[in-house]
Amino acid sequence: MSIKIAVIGAGIMGADHARIVAEDLPGASLSVVCDMDLARAQAIADIYETEAATDPETTIARGDVDAVIVASPDFTHAPLSLACIAAGKKVMCEKPLSQSSSECLGVMQAEEAAGKKHVMLGFMRRYDPAYIQMKRALTDGIIGRALMLHNWHRNGSTPATDFTGAMAITNSAPHEFDILRYLLDSEAVSITATQPARSDDKVAPVVMVLQTVDHQIVTIEVNNNAAYGYDVKAELVGETGSIATNHVSYVRLDKEALKSVGHDPDWRNRYAEAYRQQNRAFLRWVQGGDYPELASSSWDGYAAAVIAETGVKALETGIRQDITLISKPEFYA
Ligand SMILES: NC(=O)c1ccc[n+]([C@@H]2O[C@H](COP(=O)([O-])OP(=O)(O)OC[C@H]3O[C@@H](n4cnc5c(N)ncnc54)[C@H](O)[C@@H]3O)[C@@H](O)[C@H]2O)c1
Repeated sequence: MSIKIAVIGAGIMGADHARIVAEDLPGASLSVVCDMDLARAQAIADIYETEAATDPETTIARGDVDAVIVASPDFTHAPLSLACIAAGKKVMCEKPLSQSSSECLGVMQAEEAAGKKHVMLGFMRRYDPAYIQMKRALTDGIIGRALMLHNWHRNGSTPATDFTGAMAITNSAPHEFDILRYLLDSEAVSITATQPARSDDKVAPVVMVLQTVDHQIVTIEVNNNAAYGYDVKAELVGETGSIATNHVSYVRLDKEALKSVGHDPDWRNRYAEAYRQQNRAFLRWVQGGDYPELASSSWDGYAAAVIAETGVKALETGIRQDITLISKPEFYA
C-alpha cells in the first residue's frame, strides 16, 4: 500500500521534496502540497496532479495523509512538528528544528509524552556519500583517532541584503554543527566566533572554532558572499591520516591553458543523492521500520540549536563561550 505524504511549504526545498516523493520514492505518493500561498502550492500540485491546500494544521490532520514533510520557514518547524506528534504522524522536518533551544525542548517533551519518536530532521549530510566515507574512515580506524575537523560553507551571495553574521550562525551553520557531532560522535563544549572586515556592506565570513568534550578542534568558515559560487567542503584530520571531500563535478573544461571545473550554484544538485536517501530512510520508517540509524533526531536538533545560540553569543561578545546541553534523555539514547 502506498504511503501518502503531504509536503508543507512549496518553496525551493518543498518543490524538491515534492518531486522526490512524486517521482523518486517507490512506495510513496504525494497526496497534498500545502503552502500559505495557494498559487505556490497549486503550481507544484499541478505538476504532479495532486491537491493543493493552504492550512498546515488541517493538512496534517487529513485522513489521506499518512506522513508529513515540513519545508516551510524555520519558525514553523517546531509548531508543525508538534502538530504532527499530536496527530500521531511521523514527520521529516527540514532543518533547523527551531532556532530556539527551548522550543526544541518542547518538541522533545511532546515526543517523550507520546512514547515514541515522530520526528526526523533534514540534516541530510548524514546521507551524503562523501560524509558517509569520512565517517567510515573513522569507524574503520583508517585515519586513527580524530584530531580536527575543518569545514567550509560558502555561498555565491546572500539571498537577503540584511543578512547578518548571527544569521550565518543560526541559518547556515547548523548543518556544520550537526555533521561535526555526527562525524566525531562527540559533543562541542566551547565555541569562539569572529569575522574579518569587508570593504563593502556585505556580510563578512564568520569563522568559528569549537572544542569537543574529547579535546578535538573543529573549525567552521561560513562565507555567504564568497562571490564565486556554492562550495561546501570538509577535511577530517586523524592521528594517522586525513580524509577530505572532493569537489563534485561531472566534467572538466580544458581551454586556453587552463583546466577548470564549475561550481554548481544550486545546492540541491550537490546533495541530490543525500536528499533522496534521506527521504527513502523516512519512508522505510513510516512503513514500519525502526527509527533510521543515520537520522538526526529532535535531540540532535536541540543540540544544534544550543550550539547556534552560544555561537551568536560568542560572536557578539568576542569571547569564547561554554556550550551547555541538558543531560541526554534516555528516550534519545
Ligand atoms: N536541508 C537543506 O539543505 C536546506 C536547504 C535550504 C533550506 N532549508 C530549509 O528549508 C526550509 C525552507 O527553505 P526554502 O529555501 O525552501 O524557503 P522558501 O522561502 O523558498 O519556501 C518556503 C515556503 O513556505 C511557505 N510558507 C511560509 N509560511 C508557511 C506556513 N505557515 N505554512 C505553510 N507554508 C508556509 C512560503 O509561502 C514559501 O512558499 C527552511 O527552514 C530552510 O532552513 C534546508
